Amino acid sequence: MSALIHRIVKQAYKTFSRSDSYTANYHKLSTLLTGLRAKDIALEEALDAFLLRPHGAPAGYIAIHECQYFNLCVFIVREKCSVPLHDHPEMTGLIKVLYGKAKITSYDRLDSGGCARTSLMKLKFQRRIEPIKCIHSGQYIIKDDDEVQTLQSDQDNYHSIEAVSGPTAFIDILAPPYNASQNRNCHYYIPVENVYPEEHSTDTEDDKICYLQEISPPRTFYCDPVAYRGPQIDIRDLNVDE
Ligand SMILES: [Fe+2]
Repeated sequence: MSALIHRIVKQAYKTFSRSDSYTANYHKLSTLLTGLRAKDIALEEALDAFLLRPHGAPAGYIAIHECQYFNLCVFIVREKCSVPLHDHPEMTGLIKVLYGKAKITSYDRLDSGGCARTSLMKLKFQRRIEPIKCIHSGQYIIKDDDEVQTLQSDQDNYHSIEAVSGPTAFIDILAPPYNASQNRNCHYYIPVENVYPEEHSTDTEDDKICYLQEISPPRTFYCDPVAYRGPQIDIRDLNVDE
């Protein structure tokens, strides 16, 4: 039997390259990914290589497989560092922690934001883009024996990922991948509260409502490439049913 990571890549290809049996294929992919552990992709060696690197970046990036249908990679995040709040426009994502603990804070977009105070907001934030109205959909800590976390285009699509109690590493599948020519850019945000106070009602749900202001890509976040040391992916049979 082929290596687990190879079966995961193959299942991802099957899931995202076809229109039939999507739900069943997605469930199989999620199940396979839940069973993945650091040793399956020789992650400890990559962790050592990255974390012992002096003056390294806040995060390391291990490219495993990318095609037109999805991107599969691993992020390593140093202790006290995080992947800043960002989005995945019109994308589906799966995240599986392989090392350490990660705190995920996520938001759902409610509408496109904006109101009569737009010009004031522009002045206040010195940005061309209005804050977007969101609901704080969750904050949780996951570790390597937890299930896969998912995001959809309309659910948990905005999130930050923080290393908790030491460095963390997680595998990330995004489908389709970011692609600027197809308007799938990664945007970064900061939460801002009470920017349109007159819109707020007395509903208890208001406690979860916040606004996200797009910002320039944070200079504090960048990645160093880290070599993939796990089993090689044989792309010749990705489109072949077993
Ligand atoms: Fe993300």
